[in-house]
Amino acid sequence: MRRGYRFGRSRLKPSPMADETAHTYEPAKGHGLKHDPFNAIVGPRPIGWISSINAAGVANLAPYSFFNAFNYRPPIIGFSTIGWKDSVANIEASGEFCWNLATKALAEPMNITCTPAPPEIDEFEVAGLTRAPGRLVAAPRVLESPVNFECRLSQLVQLQGADGIKADTWLILGEVVMIHIDPRLITDGVYETATAHPILRAGRMGDYFEITPEAMFSMRRPGWPID
Ligand SMILES: Cc1cc2nc3c(=O)[nH]c(=O)nc-3n(C[C@H](O)[C@H](O)[C@H](O)COP(=O)(O)O)c2cc1C
Repeated sequence: MRRGYRFGRSRLKPSPMADETAHTYEPAKGHGLKHDPFNAIVGPRPIGWISSINAAGVANLAPYSFFNAFNYRPPIIGFSTIGWKDSVANIEASGEFCWNLATKALAEPMNITCTPAPPEIDEFEVAGLTRAPGRLVAAPRVLESPVNFECRLSQLVQLQGADGIKADTWLILGEVVMIHIDPRLITDGVYETATAHPILRAGRMGDYFEITPEAMFSMRRPGWPID
């Protein structure tokens, strides 16, 4: 029985950081680089391409990369909005939204939907995208996107710092109540992540990654003792 793992199986051995020369900083005091590396480090991040509808029936669509999945049962996804934007206003009022998978083929229209258009403007129309009705929610889905989740708002949380001071940032969590998947992404009953060529957000103003089949590798989870 071996209790600890020793590097050796992998060809890519990690080399420890030279701690004295590391770029070390307190974010509250500035990063000292050309670009804030925070979201380049925590990246690439999946994109929450969020559609919603306002009380006047105008659809809204916008990308959010502070986005992820947080639970299986019930399935919960979440995203955060820096400032009170149209998406959060609509979702607070209607209690519903949809998530749409952003793919390489949809990169340009996805990017267009981040335009700070006023609430009376429908970004589906601005980006030339098709609204598909939700089955369980009033928010429309992006028909061109190969995966859509219909969601009901479960929690809306204003974020705060460790000092308790509130940030002008809102975390929206929603239960996924209906899922639509293009059958071309399913092979022998398995959803293949890379087939859709999802895009993920990295750092700076406009850096992204595209997921392709060659990028995948697999690992078995160890038991205890490590086997
Ligand atoms: C790829 C991408 C990711 C983005 N991620 C976020 C984010 O996580 N939070 C945020 O507040 N804005 C984010 N934005 C900016 C919003 O999309 C933008 O402010 C948009 O106008 C908001 O639309 P809305 O007011 O219709 O909700 C992102 C933009 C892009 C292109």
